[in-house]
Amino acid sequence: MKFFIDTANIKEIEEAKKMGLIDGVTTNPSLMAKEGGNVNEIAKKICEIVDGPVSLEVLATDFEGMIKEARELVKFGPNVVIKIPMTEEGIKASYFLEREGIPTNVTLVFSLNQALLVGKIGASYVSPFVGRLDDIGERGMKLVEEIVQVYKNYNFKTEIIVASIRHPEHVRQAALIGAHIATIPFKVIKKLASHPLTDIGLEKFLSDFQKVKGA
Ligand code: G3P
Repeated sequence: MKFFIDTANIKEIEEAKKMGLIDGVTTNPSLMAKEGGNVNEIAKKICEIVDGPVSLEVLATDFEGMIKEARELVKFGPNVVIKIPMTEEGIKASYFLEREGIPTNVTLVFSLNQALLVGKIGASYVSPFVGRLDDIGERGMKLVEEIVQVYKNYNFKTEIIVASIRHPEHVRQAALIGAHIATIPFKVIKKLASHPLTDIGLEKFLSDFQKVKGA
C-alpha cells in the first residue's frame, strides 16, 4: 500500500520523508491557501523534496483553462500529476492530458458512477473523499470497496487514492479493502505509529531497568 501525504506544508513533508513513509504528495487549493506565500514556489519545492508523484490541482473549471494550467504545472517537475475536478469538463481534460502522457488525478469523487467514468477514460488516479461522505451520513469506505471491486471487474489501471482521510480507522479499512494508496494528513500519519499499550510498556521496561540499576 502506498502512502501519500495530504498537505502542502514543507516541514510536514520533510518530517514524514525522514520516517520513510512517503511515496507521494497530494495538495489541493485549500491546502495551498493554508500555507500562504507563493503557491508556485511551494509546489516546485514539494516536487524537489519528494521523488514520487505530486498532485497539483488546476483552478480553472473549463477544458481549455485546465489544459493551459496543466501545461504550466508540469514544468515544476517530472513527478507532477495534474489534479482535476470530477466534472464533465474535468473528464474531458483528464482524457486529453492522459493521451498526451500527462498523468492526472481526478478528485472530488463521491459516487461509484463518477469513479467508473474515471476508470473508463484511463486516468492515472481517482480520489474518492471518504471523510466528506461520512460527514453527510454516508459510508465513505463503502464507496472505496465498490470502486476496488468494479476496477477489478474491468481490469482498469487507474489507481485508487483514498482521500479525505480523517483518522487511523480510515487507513486501517483502506488497507483491508486493498486500495492502492491512502493520502493521509500528517497528524494522522503520526497517530498510526502510536498505541497506548506501547507507551505503557515502554515506560515499564525503562522503570524496571532503572530499579535494578539503582539497587
Ligand atoms: O485529499 C483530499 C483532502 O484534502 C480533503 O480532505 O478533510 O478536507 O475532506 P478534507
